Amino acid sequence: MAANDSIFLGAHEAPGQHSVQRCDACGADWHELDASPACPHCGGLLAIIHRAPLDSMGAPAAPAALQHAFAQHCCARPSGHPSGVWRFEQVVMPAAGAAITSHPEGNTPLLSRARVSAWAGCDGLLLKHEGYNPTGSFKDRGMTVGTTQAVRTGATAVACASTGNTSASLASYAAQAGIPGLVFVPAGKVALGKMAQTLAYGATTLLVRGDFDDCLRLVQDASRELGIYLLNSINPWRVEGQKTIVLELLQQMDWHVPDFLVLPAGNLGNTAAFGKALREAHALGLIHRMPRLVSVQAAGAAPFATAFRDSFRERLRVQAETIATAIRIGDPASWDRAVRAIRDTDGLVLSVTDEEIIDAKVQVDAAGVGCEPASAASVAGVRQLVRSGVIRSGDRVVAVLTGHVLKDPGMLVELHQQRDDFAHANRPVEIEVSVRAVADVLARRTREGA
Ligand code: F0G
Repeated sequence: MAANDSIFLGAHEAPGQHSVQRCDACGADWHELDASPACPHCGGLLAIIHRAPLDSMGAPAAPAALQHAFAQHCCARPSGHPSGVWRFEQVVMPAAGAAITSHPEGNTPLLSRARVSAWAGCDGLLLKHEGYNPTGSFKDRGMTVGTTQAVRTGATAVACASTGNTSASLASYAAQAGIPGLVFVPAGKVALGKMAQTLAYGATTLLVRGDFDDCLRLVQDASRELGIYLLNSINPWRVEGQKTIVLELLQQMDWHVPDFLVLPAGNLGNTAAFGKALREAHALGLIHRMPRLVSVQAAGAAPFATAFRDSFRERLRVQAETIATAIRIGDPASWDRAVRAIRDTDGLVLSVTDEEIIDAKVQVDAAGVGCEPASAASVAGVRQLVRSGVIRSGDRVVAVLTGHVLKDPGMLVELHQQRDDFAHANRPVEIEVSVRAVADVLARRTREGA
């Protein structure tokens, strides 16, 4: 096993530290308070390696004791509000102490909706809805930890490139921590809700004349040269926070492992985080088998899905285009980690068309749940796997909905009010101030529905 493959610190490694930052590429260890955005030796991505949790006698904590601790620890610091991230702090950031910057976040529901299950053809489908987070996406789970680390390292500013959700989340947590935030977004390609949030929370917002991949290169250069703390998902502490989506859903399922765990994929940070969470949960004895991880990309932004079909022989890049702007990414940063996550879990990578994404979104929305377009890719992916016979009757499937329905109101207004060819359009009706007019509309709706 290579040095960078170990899951927890050995007893004699890194004395005095709870965790180290280890380079994926060269295996070098860096102090947990080092603020470098990548390995100072070779530029490789850094990963957090923790000391395995111990019990009060100093022995490795038993799985049942850990599960009990996670359940007890839900009234977390600093506000006394329960955080679905800091409840797992022993395996996320054990040394955070008073630096924690939390809204709180997490504690998102695991929903079952007959309409969505029937459409996907999967009775055992559960929806882990990350849109219930404080800024409306899963990004808050990584951002609470990344911002806490920014506080610990004394950062004077934080920055990210984003398709919109990371920027909204960074802006919010930076405001709470009192640290200036700087975001780089592709001009004209960010959904309205996300842009509105970013501006409202007060981050300095740079509309870059390029795509997300250009933004990511630019923010990495800027953070290196200007000493700004980088909070993209290549930040290893962001990954630690995002692991809690998996830990929390396993906890909600009484640590019974689903057969499939399906998520939308763009920059592949979340796929990487899910893989790390599952490896660690397995090593700690919290679970005894792996779910099959399924990453779903939009067909117009699917380099990872294409490479999967060729056993990941090559790392690919594409010019990305999709209606799901959150995952409009052609050169995913966490590629190698995501490959490992898929391989470790006997996982799959799919692509779904924009039409399939819209169809799935229509169902999730009409069930009264709602999600943003990228999130619906996971439900579209479940349907595809049911149709191809990979998911079978009786399988337990969790699809992650990554963002809230109000993230992309522009798309909803266009679909429901402006497009003539949209079969599910729910057009608003303008009326005079009269009960008669109301009755007419109701009668027409009844006729149409008959
Ligand atoms: N779903 C939503 C709603 C997202 O915002 C993103 C990524 C993803 C899925 C894909 O996750 O990149 O970890 O594979 N949004 C990033 C952003 C890129 O800037 O907000 P990933």
